[in-house]
Amino acid sequence: MEQIKILGFAGSLRSGSYNRGLIRAAVELAPPGTTVEMFELGDIPLYNQDIQDQGDSPAVAAFKTAIAAADALLVATPEYNHCIPGVLKNALDWASRPRATSPLRDKPVAILGATPGPGATARAQANLREAFVFVGAVVMPLPEVLVASATQHFDADGNLTDPEIRASIVELVEALARWTVRLSSDRAA
Ligand SMILES: Cc1cc2nc3c(=O)[nH]c(=O)nc-3n(C[C@H](O)[C@H](O)[C@H](O)COP(=O)(O)O)c2cc1C
Repeated sequence: MEQIKILGFAGSLRSGSYNRGLIRAAVELAPPGTTVEMFELGDIPLYNQDIQDQGDSPAVAAFKTAIAAADALLVATPEYNHCIPGVLKNALDWASRPRATSPLRDKPVAILGATPGPGATARAQANLREAFVFVGAVVMPLPEVLVASATQHFDADGNLTDPEIRASIVELVEALARWTVRLSSDRAA
């Protein structure tokens, strides 16, 4: 794998979102040998199996195609009431069906998250790991990027300004690239 293609998305539609800011930082900082592209979840409709049975809408199809074309995923989650937001769960629910052909199956994933609160999205990240188990995605165990007190680390537009957190995102993407190569050689063996 010469260049690891990573698809990044965040479970927030907010213009000044800290979590979208984390993914934008990964796009900017992608280390050599990797590219990170951002996918916006705003056009994805609410999951409805009746609609799915008739065929995916263009936004859902675009999301699934982008996941399938990526070597790995980078997912930034806000924490809503100790869980991942509905926006993110809804998008993952669409991508998980039909189960047999889901592009999430066997996909290497790294997760991260930011909140203005003290809990650093730890509960939402645990919740997100759990959601990925049933779809068969392979979430990297470590390193973790958990950002608390986000107002101190981002500017008013949601751009990540903290140099230590920016460095930790580079480390996370480097680790995800190694995780992706490792899983791909396991599959080839
Ligand atoms: C419905 C709702 C529930 C929330 N619940 C939590 C929570 O459980 N833990 C937490 O740290 N922050 C919580 N927050 C605050 C979010 O962390 C904050 O709005 C954050 O900025 C959302 O992420 P974003 O900046 O990427 O949009 C909640 C916000 C909303 C709107």
